Amino acid sequence: MPVFRGDVRAGDAAAVRELVHATGFFSEEEVAVAQELVDAFISYGPDSTYRFVFAEAREGLRGYTCYGRIPLTRSSFDLYWIAVRPECQGVGLGRRLIELTEAAVRGDGGTQLFADTSSRPRYLPTRAFYRRLGYEPAAEFADFYAPGDNKIVYSKRLVAAA
Ligand SMILES: CC(C)(COP(=O)(O)OP(=O)(O)OC[C@H]1O[C@@H](n2cnc3c(N)ncnc32)[C@H](O)[C@@H]1OP(=O)(O)O)[C@@H](O)C(=O)NCCC(=O)NCCS
Repeated sequence: MPVFRGDVRAGDAAAVRELVHATGFFSEEEVAVAQELVDAFISYGPDSTYRFVFAEAREGLRGYTCYGRIPLTRSSFDLYWIAVRPECQGVGLGRRLIELTEAAVRGDGGTQLFADTSSRPRYLPTRAFYRRLGYEPAAEFADFYAPGDNKIVYSKRLVAAA
């Protein structure tokens, strides 16, 4: 069972790069950006926009989320990234990561969380995952990523913890 943590450690940028690559879902450019978000935190610390939830087992990083308050908004947050290692998918780790991320966002005063994804058939499981977790499609931008590849923005309102 992985241990969950929010602090960022020296090896995390390389581990995120390897994990995101291993999913087979992301382009080289996207893999590089995923790593850069960790590097941004390591460079700027809490002044960085980015926050993380890491799921770590003895074998290494099993999954993670990257999220943060959207600059120039009071309490809207973006889920910049979520990924679970292929051999660890389908057993509830993604759900746990989202739940912990939502709790952290609420703790930071967030009232809604947005998640962008692609309309390509490849992302059908990802879209099913977001729906299952209570995210509703809020907007769609035609041909955003590439001609024929729309951006779908999912959102979820977060009720303040009692
Ligand atoms: C999307 C992703 C993070 C989901 O993580 P996961 O650990 O496989 O998901 P879980 O096992 O926690 O599933 C959570 C819920 O979503 C549902 N779900 C997951 N995949 C599904 C699918 N293909 N179809 C229908 N429902 C699905 C599960 O049934 C589960 O519901 P339950 O908790 O009520 O039983 C993971 O598959 C992944 O890393 N995918 C590749 C990267 C990616 O797409 N990232 C998002 C970029 S936009």
